[in-house]
Amino acid sequence: PASTEEPRPGSLTVAGVPLQEIAERFGTPAYVLDEDEVRTRCRTYLSAFPDTEVLYAAKAFLCRAMIRWIDEEGLGLDVCSAGELELAVTGGFPPHRIVLHGNAKSPQDLALALRLGVGRIVIDSPSEIARLAAAVGPAGRQRVMVRVVPGVSAGGHDKIRTGTEDQKFGLSIRDGHAQHAITRVLGQKQLELTGLHCHVGSQITDVRPYLAAVRRMVGLMAAVHRRHGVVLPELDLGGGHGIAYRPGEQALDITELSRAVRAELASACATAGLPVPRLIIEPGRALVGPAGVALYHVLAVKHTGDRVFVAVDGGMSDNPRPALYGVRYAPRLIGRATEAPAARMTVVGRHCEAGDILSPDATLPSDLRPGDLLAVPVAGAYHLSMASAYNLVGRPPVVAVREGRARLLVRRESLADLTARDVGV
Ligand code: LLP
Repeated sequence: PASTEEPRPGSLTVAGVPLQEIAERFGTPAYVLDEDEVRTRCRTYLSAFPDTEVLYAAKAFLCRAMIRWIDEEGLGLDVCSAGELELAVTGGFPPHRIVLHGNAKSPQDLALALRLGVGRIVIDSPSEIARLAAAVGPAGRQRVMVRVVPGVSAGGHDKIRTGTEDQKFGLSIRDGHAQHAITRVLGQKQLELTGLHCHVGSQITDVRPYLAAVRRMVGLMAAVHRRHGVVLPELDLGGGHGIAYRPGEQALDITELSRAVRAELASACATAGLPVPRLIIEPGRALVGPAGVALYHVLAVKHTGDRVFVAVDGGMSDNPRPALYGVRYAPRLIGRATEAPAARMTVVGRHCEAGDILSPDATLPSDLRPGDLLAVPVAGAYHLSMASAYNLVGRPPVVAVREGRARLLVRRESLADLTARDVGV
């Protein structure tokens, strides 16, 4: 996780900055990002995956600073909307290092991508082929990939399994849709097919699904070669690399993933008589998740039956993950030392529904009281990017920490922000 240290009991620092200082200066709830942790994770990927294009999956978390870090570290970017694309390019990210995804790209998404000149567009459905070719225009040529369903089941939760047949993404090999789409793309002179893409799921902690995906994808590349005489130069295996949310949980070993995937790719290509394609990967969570910490103040403590409810000043509007996927976090008390024994507590948010539970089984000091500060580690990915303004609660700010200094990256959503778009009566 973020380079946390506990210099004296009860005081937790990230990158040399005590978290309670951040809470005092920026208020809570707040999200803290350890810049060097993000950069280190980028470098770990680049050294673990030589000769590989590493794209950061922007959906995990995006802001201008993040865009700059990713650019400076030499990664590419995976975006899936005009919004992510606009922020990236106005933030200075080179368009040719951007890949556009999406199972339902809007005319605006495609028009912006073409106007800005993104590196590749990943085709996800048959109707997109003609639509994209028409949008490119007779004189243009756009590099594309085709997203394929390899028929591999993987991922931390049903809602984030994307490699199986029975879900909305990609084109099936089993049913022949992928082969058909590839044939059509090859027949469009406005489209240059650089390779195939798959993303089998998210929060995967085992290398085996990736190896199964490699075999299926190389099998398809070989079929394309036999049928069309075309050698596709690129293979994008998506992201999905799992991280540890609580002490004792196992993250996917990136070095092992790289070794195993590249060995499998080499052997599958040798068997198929194909050259080894250039590998592309798209990690999101693993680059930013462990670098983030969420801070909340306790507003109420309530004993009901056998349970102790601890209510904080944020909740499912800034972190919908426990409600959506049943994910467990390990919140901890910071800012004061205590000798009180640990007790089992349910940390809940401030929103108007009973499912607004941030942590059903937190272990916290039994003397926890209103005014206390809680830190939730591993909060960098899919929190703020999935945040809403439910109950018209403004979204929290993002504060970067580096070398003992904190600076604001994204300000808190104000009451003025929350009401500004409401223009009718
Ligand atoms: N590439 C594609 C095409 C994707 O759809 C995704 C994630 C990624 C890469 C990055 O996956 P990652 O490395 O971050 O696992 N909201 C869920 C996760 C949804 C992931 C969606 N696609 C969560 O909070 O767990």
